[in-house]
Amino acid sequence: MYSQIATLAFVGVEARAVEVQVRITPGNPAFHIVGLADKAVAESRERVRNALHSVGLGLPYKHLTVNLAPADLPKEGSHYDLAIVIGLLVAMGVISPEAVSGYAAIGELALDGSIRAVPGALPAAIGANALGKGLICPEPCGPEAAWAGENVDVLAAPHLLSLVNHFKGLLTLPRPKPSLERSDKPLPDLKDVRGQESAKRALEVAAAGGHNLLMVGPPGSGKSMLAARLPSILPPLTPEEMLEVSMVHSLAGELMGGKLCIDRPFRAPHHSASMAALVGGGSRPKPGEASLAHLGVLFLDELPEYQPNVLDALRQPLETGEIVVARANHRILYPARIQLIAAMNPCKCGGGPGMTCRRGPRCASEYQARVSGPMMDRVDLHIEVPAVTAADLVLPAATEGSREVRTRVIAARDRQRARLAAKGAKGVRTNAELTGQLLDEFAAPDAAGQTLLRQAAETMKLSARGYHRVLRVARTLADLDACDDVGRLHIAEALSYRGEALRERSVA
Ligand SMILES: Nc1ncnc2c1ncn2[C@@H]1O[C@H](COP(=O)(O)OP(=O)(O)OP(=O)(O)O)[C@@H](O)[C@H]1O
Ligand SMILES: [Mg+2]
Repeated sequence: MYSQIATLAFVGVEARAVEVQVRITPGNPAFHIVGLADKAVAESRERVRNALHSVGLGLPYKHLTVNLAPADLPKEGSHYDLAIVIGLLVAMGVISPEAVSGYAAIGELALDGSIRAVPGALPAAIGANALGKGLICPEPCGPEAAWAGENVDVLAAPHLLSLVNHFKGLLTLPRPKPSLERSDKPLPDLKDVRGQESAKRALEVAAAGGHNLLMVGPPGSGKSMLAARLPSILPPLTPEEMLEVSMVHSLAGELMGGKLCIDRPFRAPHHSASMAALVGGGSRPKPGEASLAHLGVLFLDELPEYQPNVLDALRQPLETGEIVVARANHRILYPARIQLIAAMNPCKCGGGPGMTCRRGPRCASEYQARVSGPMMDRVDLHIEVPAVTAADLVLPAATEGSREVRTRVIAARDRQRARLAAKGAKGVRTNAELTGQLLDEFAAPDAAGQTLLRQAAETMKLSARGYHRVLRVARTLADLDACDDVGRLHIAEALSYRGEALRERSVA
């Protein structure tokens, strides 16, 4: 007796087709699973045996072989249980092969036959659809899988028994409804920040152009406070972006109740984070914080406190927007198009107001050297956040809050989107991602701006990267002003966000 059913293996966010083949032959009673299965898959035998027992079925007293094809693709995780048990049920003649031929299945079995949630239902449903099949998944994963499209047949079963009854026509499992995750708690508002006008402006520019931002300032100056307010001024995700973000969160098992992410991600991993936690990978590969921040913000507070090698691992994703995790025999790709927001004190001792560091300028230079030059080079906006004075704190709250700033940010992003769409540029969403030809074309300053930039490049000894950084930021400043052309003022402001001047000052 032979049967086969489709399931999926996750390689990054991609779901690859896997066929579960089951053969029951006369011979010594045995149950083998072959096909490069890891320990979780091998242990599936016991879960399958017990789950079948719980619905009143026993494994045949014969030789059972389960093959997961293709045999050279590693199979990791517990989500193969459901396909294996369905394959066995078909081979045992409990379910007809035609009933399941149009489906791929993922899910973990509990010993009592209930089907437990597994990560990756959304990419699995999209993958199954690409194979021209529907998806059988655990009930809690149903709302998530339903986002793959209205035409995708999703069967979300709570228990093995309900699945068997569905296929026998004794019960109909309802189609799950897609639902959205909307956080109810209000986001912290920019109104709470007194003074710090230039830092707020830089935050607005960063949000408008998707630029990386570094804030340097003494303890208590409000850096963490400002960063926490960035989500409140970021534009909402488009429906396609929601799906993209949710795919990654689904793989990490972070979609709460199977609801799609609607808010832009904001991830703030602690500085003790390991390489695997930040960029992904590990013994059972999972997306890291950088991928979970895809299309959103990765906030690294106390930047020099991160392990230097962990920080340097972010260099490649900051440039390419994706993370490649190399495994022994294959590569895994996770998306990581992130906006990096970092905060740090000028020196290890903090460097607060009225405080002179006893160790002198060496303290600052040593502390800052913990962040490599190439890493700093990837940050478009470097700003100083000075300590707030008591006079600032007693000021009445600013009249302008996050809502007004967000309106301007959205308008600036719309201009960028329209310009890129008119050009037919694919894969570029913000000014921060402009390179080469596109940057030359969109950010070319007018005559006065050109002159200023040329002078500045000579006197400030701008590197090629620094030069392009100024152009990108100037383009965003022009977008915030609703200007088609990049003018002298935009170049001048963009030049003020250069890091070199800042570093020289703190070292001197
Ligand atoms: N501009 C400000 N307006 C209102 N409150 C402020 C401001 N700056 C700082 N505060 C107050 O100071 C507290 C500390 O700020 P925050 O934690 O953001 O400082 P920080 O710059 O991140 O310091 P550290 O370098 O020690 O991490 C805030 O929780 C807030 O109560
Ligand atoms: Mg802080």
